[in-house]
Amino acid sequence: MKTLTLTRPDDMHLHLRDGAQMRDVLADTTRQFARAIIMPNLKSPVVSTGQALKYRKRIIESLPEHIQGKGDFKPLMTLYLTETTSAEEIRQAKQSGLIHAVKYYPAGATTNSESGVTALDKVYPVLEAMAKQNLPLLVHGEVTSSDVDIFDREAVFIERQLCPLMEDIPELRIVFEHITTKDAVDFVNEGPGGLAATITPQHLLLNRNALFIGGIRPHHFCMPVLKAEAHRCAVVDAAISGSPKFFLGTDSAPHAREAKESACGCAGIYSAHNAIELYAEIFEKSACLDKLEAFASHHGADFYGLPRNEGTITLEKKSWQIPETLAFGESIIIPFRAGEHCQWKIKQ
Ligand code: NCD
Ligand code: ZN
Repeated sequence: MKTLTLTRPDDMHLHLRDGAQMRDVLADTTRQFARAIIMPNLKSPVVSTGQALKYRKRIIESLPEHIQGKGDFKPLMTLYLTETTSAEEIRQAKQSGLIHAVKYYPAGATTNSESGVTALDKVYPVLEAMAKQNLPLLVHGEVTSSDVDIFDREAVFIERQLCPLMEDIPELRIVFEHITTKDAVDFVNEGPGGLAATITPQHLLLNRNALFIGGIRPHHFCMPVLKAEAHRCAVVDAAISGSPKFFLGTDSAPHAREAKESACGCAGIYSAHNAIELYAEIFEKSACLDKLEAFASHHGADFYGLPRNEGTITLEKKSWQIPETLAFGESIIIPFRAGEHCQWKIKQ
């Protein structure tokens, strides 16, 4: 049987939610990943060091029983940037040693982004403090103006927000999260060493046609929205390029089935159930399986200045069926590619 052994990977962009829902999704992530960058967009966003440390404690207490107390999974916490975040908060965050980045949501861009920032220049003192403390800014890179077509919002973000920001505060390290376009790939490739990007499984596997196959497909809806095939190909090329500027971040974002299958459905795809197996499928399709380990296990750790993980995971080439539904607190989630077959399976 064909197998693939990798250094234990990290998920550098993950939504865990909270409470019973979090308990249900955590087992999926911890089966594959040693660490994850935890997004702070809870209903009541994680805006202070105190809140981040309390959230971290709840995550650790919700870990599956068999790994409790073993330190096998490390949540890497982040803060949610608001227009009232202070430079002092940044200093405290850095000093905690447990907060690894600050997330910028343009107000109104996505799920729970209402408390986000309306204009970046309003928070320049905080961004300067982050540059000084070497705390990276994670950007949800889409403009929100209704005059910009939804498929162009990432490219316009580069021009209107990212370029001026990088010019004004060149020492600030930035992760361009969940990139979806050739524009973003080119921009990151041409940018300085302090600029990197995460890539999700859905933006590698699907183009925007997947939103409308035989009818509207709410389980393929996420932000940034899927793009045209030429963009998907550029994102695949970036992932398999071996460049340390690109690394794994699933953006796994669980929503209860009823919140997705609705007249105004939520954005977010739940890929944590079998994320590493999906990435293996994509890399194999491009005949680049040898590049998967660096993308999944080295580049992210190196960018964040963390040691690479010590353990390994092994994947087997084996077709198996992804479940139709998974538990999610009092509801259920429909995982990414529910009911379809996946070609790789992690060895337990
Ligand atoms: C995320 C969520 O549901 O929290 N949704 C998504 O479509 N990716 C928010 C985000 O990262 O944009
Ligand atoms: Zn996200």
